[in-house]
Amino acid sequence: MSKPNISIVGTGYVGLTTASIFANCGYKTYTIDRNQDKLDIIKSGRSYFYEAGLDDLVEKGLKKKKLIPTLSYKKAISDSQIVFICVGTPSNRDGSVDLNNVFQAIKKILLVAKNDLIIVQKSTVPIETGKRIKKIVKDFNKNNLRINFVSSPEFLRESSAVFDTLYFDRLVVGSNDEHAREKIVDIYRDVANFAKDFDYKSVSDYAFLNINPKYIENLKKFEDRVIRTNLESAELIKVASNSFLSLKISFANTLSRICAKTGACVQEVTNGMGSDPRIGKAFLSAGLGYGGGCFPKDVMGMINTANAYDVDFGILDQVEKVNNTQVYFALNKIRQLLNDDLRKKKVAFLGLSFKPGTSDIRKSPSMHLIEKLLYEEMKVRVYDPQAIKESKKELEHPDLTYCEKINDVFTEADIIVLGTEWKEFINFDYSSIKSQLKQAKILDARNVLNQKKLKQIGFEILGF
Ligand code: UGA
Repeated sequence: MSKPNISIVGTGYVGLTTASIFANCGYKTYTIDRNQDKLDIIKSGRSYFYEAGLDDLVEKGLKKKKLIPTLSYKKAISDSQIVFICVGTPSNRDGSVDLNNVFQAIKKILLVAKNDLIIVQKSTVPIETGKRIKKIVKDFNKNNLRINFVSSPEFLRESSAVFDTLYFDRLVVGSNDEHAREKIVDIYRDVANFAKDFDYKSVSDYAFLNINPKYIENLKKFEDRVIRTNLESAELIKVASNSFLSLKISFANTLSRICAKTGACVQEVTNGMGSDPRIGKAFLSAGLGYGGGCFPKDVMGMINTANAYDVDFGILDQVEKVNNTQVYFALNKIRQLLNDDLRKKKVAFLGLSFKPGTSDIRKSPSMHLIEKLLYEEMKVRVYDPQAIKESKKELEHPDLTYCEKINDVFTEADIIVLGTEWKEFINFDYSSIKSQLKQAKILDARNVLNQKKLKQIGFEILGF
C-alpha cells in the first residue's frame, strides 16, 4: 500500500519535529510556514531552535527529498492526502485561547484543496474546537470534497521533542470517523517501527543522555499505546493532562511551604507520597514552579473553558495562585539567608530558561525571580548555557549582567541562586569558586544540589 503524502502546517517544536520524523519514516512531508526566514534555515539542513537530535533528522529528511519546506499551501495541499495542524495557540488577555491561527490555516487549506483530505488537529485547543472547525469546513468546502477531521493532541515536551515523538507512551486519536482515525494510526505504527531501529545512543544531546534504556525496553507494544476516542474526549485529554500535572507541581509547592515552617523535608515527603503507584513520583518536584509555553497557558485555558460551560473548576484557580506566588516564597528564602538586607547585594544567578535543555524563556520562573531581585535593587550576574540570547531581548537592566561563562557570575557574590536545574549547575564544583565569593550562601530553588556536601565545605544553603 502506498504511503499518503502529508502536509504539516507550522514549523514549531511540534510541527518541525513531527514533519522531520514522518519524512525519515518515508512519507513525502511538506512543512508549511508563513515565515521565509525560518524556512530558509530549515532548507539549510537544521532547525531554527534548539532541540536534541532534530538537526540530524531535518538534514536526513532533506537529503532523502522527503522533507519539503514551503511557504505555499497550494503546492503542499494539492499534493497531500493528510494535513496536520501544528500552529501556535496563544492566550488571549482574558485567558481564553486564541484560535485564529488554527481557523486561518483551515481556511487556507480549503481554498486550495483539490482532493479529499483528512485534517488532523495537533495544536492544543479547547474542547469543541473540532465542532467549530467542522462548521468552517462546511462553509468553505466549495468543491464538496470529503474532508474528515481527527484530533490527535501532542504530548511531547520541549527539550525532548524528538525522543517523545519516537517513543510516545500513548497516541490519542479522536474522531467520529473510524476510517480517518485508522489512517492516522497507520502513520504512527510506522513511527513506532522506525523508533525501534533508531540509534538514540548516537544522539549526544541533553535529552538523549538522560535516557533510561529501561524506559524504551518497557514501552508497551504499539496497539496497547493507542487510545481511540471520540473527538471531544481527545481534545479534553490534552488540556486535562497538562492541568493535572500543573496541579501536582502546585501541590508539592504548597507542601514545601508547610515544610519550611516545620521539621519536614519536602523531598522526603514527595518521595514517600510518590512511592504509592496510585500517586507516582513524577511532577512532584517542589521549586520555583512551572513555566513555559504550555502549562501556564493550558491551566488558564482550562479555567476559561470550565467557566464557559458554567462549571466551577476552582481547584485550578488555586494551582495558578500557588504557582504565581512561589517566586515570593523564593524571595523570602533569600531574605532569610541575607538577614533581610537585600539592597545592593550581589547575586550570582544560575539559569534563565523555564527548564533545562531548552533556550525557551517563555513564562520562565527564573526570569520572574530575577525581575523581583532587580526590583529589590540587588545586582545580578546571570549565566545560562542556552538562553542568554533570548533573555537579552526580553530583559535589560543596569544592574543585570549576562555572563558568557559560568565562572564569571561568582565575582564578589553575596549569594548564589540556582533557578534552572541544568546538569552543568548540578555537577559544578562550588568549592573551586568559594574564594571569589563575598559570602558563601546558596539558595537552591530547584532542590537539586547536594546540601550535605556543600555545608561540609562551608556553604550556608537553603532549598525549598
Ligand atoms: C508540557 C507537557 O509535559 C507535555 O506533555 C506537553 O505536550 C507540553 O507541555 C505541551 O502542551 O506542548 P513542557 O512545557 O515542554 O511540556 O515542559 P515540562 O517538562 O512538562 O515542564 C513544565 C514546567 O513544569 C517546567 O517549568 C518545569 O520546571 C516544571 N516542573 C516540572 C516542576 O516545577 N516540577 C516538576 O516536578 C516537574
